[in-house]
Amino acid sequence: MFKKIISLIMVAAFAFLGLAGCKTSEEQQVTAGAKEQQPIIVQGPMPIEAEKLAGHLEEVKEEKSGNFVFYKGELEGYPVIIAKTGKGMENTAAATAVAIEKYDPAAIINQGTSGGHDPELNVFDIVLGERTVNLGSLKTGSLNEGQGIEPKEWIPMDLMASEGSAGEDPDAENIRYFDGDKELLAAAKAVKEEYDKGKVVEGTIGSADVWNNEVDRINWFHENYGTSVEEMEGAAGAQIAAAYDVPFLGIRVLSNNKVNGGQYNPDTAEANQAYVLEVLKEYIKTK
Ligand code: 5AD
Repeated sequence: MFKKIISLIMVAAFAFLGLAGCKTSEEQQVTAGAKEQQPIIVQGPMPIEAEKLAGHLEEVKEEKSGNFVFYKGELEGYPVIIAKTGKGMENTAAATAVAIEKYDPAAIINQGTSGGHDPELNVFDIVLGERTVNLGSLKTGSLNEGQGIEPKEWIPMDLMASEGSAGEDPDAENIRYFDGDKELLAAAKAVKEEYDKGKVVEGTIGSADVWNNEVDRINWFHENYGTSVEEMEGAAGAQIAAAYDVPFLGIRVLSNNKVNGGQYNPDTAEANQAYVLEVLKEYIKTK
């Protein structure tokens, strides 16, 4: 009798442990659903680069963190967050880290205007960032007082090469490219035809807190880094997204192109957002 009671207690205990350890099918569905529902974040530096897109979302709620504004809403029933990051590398890096920590996004698109480095590209053309690169990570040559400055002799500096001194480490003397995410790129390529204001090409987006207006300097980056366009945010977002292993793509419209005389046109910002909206819809289909 005593043995029977003990074995009954043991059976009950195992059954309880088994139930507690496994998830019911309902719980499993909720977990899978939550994963599917990771939002897509679209970043825009300036109000003209974010607000049009935010206007296309439904059920929009505005949240702020520092000076970053997040418009949380839905596009065709899928969660999308438009982030107004502010201009430049620091704002973008911080806004990317805050957004990843707060919202656990499935992917990040960084979009906005840019200046052409490629004479084949015209104002209103769009560059999909097959790769993104920081044009401000440089090491100068060693010159003494009175020997002047030689910007064409500067060499790239990869701040991610090692944890040692980037100034001394020869392994750090390389260009660090961040690859655009393959699935985001595929979605963007699939809707190229939807854009009728210019061409859409794959290329290299260069970023720094610098607006280059010297054509020889622009050509130097074009030749040595392979840049298609320059702007002030993409590589910062790409670096932080890579640190957290979040898929990332830069999508940049040319608002100006100094190398072929393309005059600045602010309407390009809105045209790019209309295209990014199509990319979003296409990408959501794959989720
Ligand atoms: N050089 C640098 N940034 C540019 N931008 C547009 N064109 C250029 C250019 N030629 C974008 C930057 C930044 C703002 C100044 O405009 O990404 O957000």
